[in-house]
Amino acid sequence: MTATTLFILGLVGAGLLAAVGIVTIAVRRGSQAGPITGELDRLAVRRDRQARTEREAGGGTAVAVLAPAEAEESAAAPEEPPHDPLLERETVSSSEMGVTRRSFFNRSLLVIFGIFLGQFAIASLAFLWPKLKGGFGTPINVGNVDDLRAEILQGDGSIVPKFVAAAQSWIVPIPDNAIPGSSFEGLPVFAGGGGGEPELMALWQRCVHLGCRVPSCVPSQGFECPCHGSRYNFHGEYEAGPAPRNMDRFAVEVDGDTGALIVQTGQVIQTPRAKTKTIRYPQGPSCV
Ligand code: FES
Repeated sequence: MTATTLFILGLVGAGLLAAVGIVTIAVRRGSQAGPITGELDRLAVRRDRQARTEREAGGGTAVAVLAPAEAEESAAAPEEPPHDPLLERETVSSSEMGVTRRSFFNRSLLVIFGIFLGQFAIASLAFLWPKLKGGFGTPINVGNVDDLRAEILQGDGSIVPKFVAAAQSWIVPIPDNAIPGSSFEGLPVFAGGGGGEPELMALWQRCVHLGCRVPSCVPSQGFECPCHGSRYNFHGEYEAGPAPRNMDRFAVEVDGDTGALIVQTGQVIQTPRAKTKTIRYPQGPSCV
């Protein structure tokens, strides 16, 4: 006989022993008799009342057949209160009483409430758990670098930023020669340039003042917030209004295999108000 067979036989034996134990306890509890201090059902109360009535009726007959001497003695003795079985109470433990209907309902309610609480906790956790794949907060492919540049850079030298909703970003170009000495120098906020082509940046659409979505304004070549009038040029540098800094931006990189621009929407980079601007603003009438 192998060790596995012995193990399985042991498990079966233990299970049988446990089953026998449970059945024994259940039978013993069911056969327990005697007065208890729990709630009496209507049948028991009615039975007790009937027994008391019969006893009182029998006591009257007994007094009638007493001898005169005994009757005198009995009359002289103080009358004892009638025996009432309902007053006979004995304290028993809760295990002896077993599970009453009330405790059963109480426990059921507790179990239901516990299940509900557990489900609520799991649902809340699932809702709050960060998405690990896809969606805002993760790396997002916003398109091929060359295609993006062709779409954004116009023939007359003006810029039409491309908005990518999935990345909540405005994609804008910045020439290589504008970066040294700017507030972006040394930061991983541009990619895809070189060979005379401008780099690309991904500006977060949120206004850094109070979080309104900032639309682009092609006539002025800038971003102009409709909420409180903050203005930024097309590189997201602060120009005017209550905004405390430049527009926030995301770290970007180019996928070496596909040539796609990847926006790291989980990596927000802040920069202070620019002292030296890298692009002129406004270049035309404002939109707000
Ligand atoms: S939220 Fe944009 S200026 Fe206030």
